[in-house]
Amino acid sequence: MEIVHISAECYPVAKVGGLADVVGALPKYLTKLGHLTKVVVPGYDTKFSRENEFVSVHQGLLKLGWFQFSYTVFKEKTNKLGFELYLIAIPELFDRPNVYSYEDDTERFTAFQVAFLNWITETNQIPDIIHCHDHHTGLIPFMMSHAPIYQHLNRVPTLLTIHNGQYQGWFGFDKLHYLPKVSSSRLGFLEWNGMINPLASAIKCAWKVTTVSPSYLDELSEKANGLENLLRFERPKCLGILNGIDSEVWNPDTDEMLENKYSIKNAKVGKAKNKKFLCEQFNLDPSKPLFTFIGRLVDEKGADLLPEICSIALNRNPNEINILILGSGDPYVEHGLTQLTHFYGGNYNTYIGYNENLAHKIYAGADYLLMPSRVEPCGLNQLYALRYGTIPIVRRTGGLKDTVLDIGDGGFGICHDHTSVYDVNHSITRAIDLFNDTKQFDSIRKTIMQIDHSWDKVAQEYVEVYQSLKNN
Ligand code: GLC
Repeated sequence: MEIVHISAECYPVAKVGGLADVVGALPKYLTKLGHLTKVVVPGYDTKFSRENEFVSVHQGLLKLGWFQFSYTVFKEKTNKLGFELYLIAIPELFDRPNVYSYEDDTERFTAFQVAFLNWITETNQIPDIIHCHDHHTGLIPFMMSHAPIYQHLNRVPTLLTIHNGQYQGWFGFDKLHYLPKVSSSRLGFLEWNGMINPLASAIKCAWKVTTVSPSYLDELSEKANGLENLLRFERPKCLGILNGIDSEVWNPDTDEMLENKYSIKNAKVGKAKNKKFLCEQFNLDPSKPLFTFIGRLVDEKGADLLPEICSIALNRNPNEINILILGSGDPYVEHGLTQLTHFYGGNYNTYIGYNENLAHKIYAGADYLLMPSRVEPCGLNQLYALRYGTIPIVRRTGGLKDTVLDIGDGGFGICHDHTSVYDVNHSITRAIDLFNDTKQFDSIRKTIMQIDHSWDKVAQEYVEVYQSLKNN
């Protein structure tokens, strides 16, 4: 099959969150299964696009209302990521360092989607499947099904994966003229609550909708930032497929970013070496349990509670624990976390920013990973932590609920029900007790490192979905 993934992010080309990791990995595993897999992302000004070789494969023009842009499609020369990578360059809109958060994001991502459809139209490509990710590519199923200029694509099956239903990309009907002409009878397929809503539109128009975990799909019927009724109505065509991880990138035995590589066999010694190195770098005590949080400092992840969680834990257990936080986001939270370094130096530290390399080192050196998320569609960090022998402490929600079972229930993690300071601190207390029970701690570490969340298995599930759409 020929499968085209279209997305705003793809690791290592452009990454903000887990979306990039999925789009950078699933296609590689689909290629391994023998399918021609292409990934299409905007041509941002990122390190990857500057440092790799591309060839121009197509040039064209696109109209966005009264604006006209020229676009160029570049293909990465060697398929070094394990799939065909295409960047659509529209310099006025994408020749910038960041992926999101510009005032003209509506124009940027609408133009990207129109350019994509123009490109495949002008070059007579009819893929077997077009797989869209999140709202940034959510207008594609609508345009393919309802815009007469793309009529030749209306038999190509489309699939939408919802990685995060909170963000929907809505904009006013005053910008309807950005889209190709459609009959007014079709406008209902774009609309939700009086706005053009790309995520809602994709849920309505895509042939199939997947979420990144089964529990998240259930939760969306109750809590989907206004789309609950739509998701309940479209439920028959929805399916929850748990994400995998790229077990080639995330393998402590081969990870070039680590000071000391290790496997299950020498996990205890290997992790201790990584911990020592990390603790030296951040002025922490390697003999104490090391708790960490890695990720975006936003409310969705429960990060707003972190300063209070940390100060309570550090007061209650003076000189008994270490905490190391890596992340960036809400300036208020960043400030709160930085302030704590003045009070708890020696037991607490933080790195404000995004640092993929350091993240690997922390998974390798830490004992526990905190994920007090309010919303977690899948969560990849707990899966990375498991692979690296770091015990996850999670709130039972979405993908966290589907992947971490509490020790008390015969499992291997520490779970709590609420995103609250009390719940997380109770879990930290349980974790300290477990740390002191060396035998059980070591045995759990061995158990978690053996759990298989690789894409090898999951990619096959997607292939089955693609196949069923194709045979439709
Ligand atoms: C989003 C979600 C996260 C998920 C990731 C990849 O970032 O918030 O839970 O793991 O997408 O699907």
